[in-house]
Amino acid sequence: MSNLGQYNAGIISTGRALPIGKITNADLETILETSDDWIQTRTGIRERRMVTGDETNSDLCVTASRIALERAGLKAEEVDLLIVSTVTPDLTLPSASCLVQSKLQARNAFVFDLVAGCSGFLYGLTVAEKFIQAGTVKNVLLVGVDVLTPIMDWQDRNTCVLFGDGAGAAVITRVEAERGLMASKLYADGDKAELLYTPAGGTKNPANYGTVEDRMHYVRMNGKEIFKFAVKVMTESTLEVLNICELSPTNLDYLIPHQANIRIIESASKKLGLLPEQVIVNIERFGNMSSASIPVALDEAVESGKIKEGHLLALVAFGAGLTWGAAVLRW
Ligand code: UT7
Repeated sequence: MSNLGQYNAGIISTGRALPIGKITNADLETILETSDDWIQTRTGIRERRMVTGDETNSDLCVTASRIALERAGLKAEEVDLLIVSTVTPDLTLPSASCLVQSKLQARNAFVFDLVAGCSGFLYGLTVAEKFIQAGTVKNVLLVGVDVLTPIMDWQDRNTCVLFGDGAGAAVITRVEAERGLMASKLYADGDKAELLYTPAGGTKNPANYGTVEDRMHYVRMNGKEIFKFAVKVMTESTLEVLNICELSPTNLDYLIPHQANIRIIESASKKLGLLPEQVIVNIERFGNMSSASIPVALDEAVESGKIKEGHLLALVAFGAGLTWGAAVLRW
């Protein structure tokens, strides 16, 4: 998917929202047979954020979106398309994006949800680009959001230590030819669906006493298989998008990888020949926030001044589905 359309699309602003609630590794030590040492060494995570009280997925979307819109100098009514990438909507019906549209009063936007696990922000970025390139819309608001703590099995140390809640928003619009998204590649392999899934709550196994008793509404994961897969596809898809642009990893100012496990990030970065300072990492503070990982990391890096205009960035992700992909863009 190289850039062939009428208009060039690029991210012009970002915003993020993280719940105030925190779970530290020390907190987890009190409820599980685990240790701060194991979690830090095996995953790189020290703490993660957690929604509390009435706080919801759509609330996080609204906070992150308002920041991104303000930074873009846009009013909510100027959004033509709103995409919410999530696997953890407030409700199964209607869509998360309809709830966000209402809270934001983005009255002129058409809206939809995008379900691609942790690769969702990359999928959304590519979809947004296609609408912009075609001239169908001008301003897209893309939110990568996940609220995973309510669907964690807090008795399963293989999963619950890894995930956290958060949202990252981006305004994507027409930009000059030398800026914006340069290439992206997206993939999926549904044969691997059961490596990371929630068995109940859909129409196949609607909620009943049995599904609750069997803890089927929580996330189940084969971490080892995903680990091996992730290192391979992160490396390959980053090289592939760089190749499309006739570039190599040495040309990159920053790689922003999905934040699932520091060992995955380090293995892939090493295979790509990147220096640690070329890789944006925030996993120690937030864990794996699925769709929100990349936009939150991007927003932090832009806000801190690390990422500057003209920088060459690669984004790369993998997640439930399985899905994966990468993108190259000029900031
Ligand atoms: O966005 C995509 C989402 N998923 C992922 O990215 C997951 C990718 N996978 C991973 O990050 C890693 O595979 C895990 C962090 C999930 C697990 O790390 P690992 O190094 O692959 O550990 P393991 O599954 O091989 O388990 C090693 C040992 C086992 O004990 P035994 O059988 O050797 O006695 C586990 O039971 O570590 C044990 N273990 C733990 N011990 C303390 C697993 N989880 C924990 C824990 N605390 N939280």
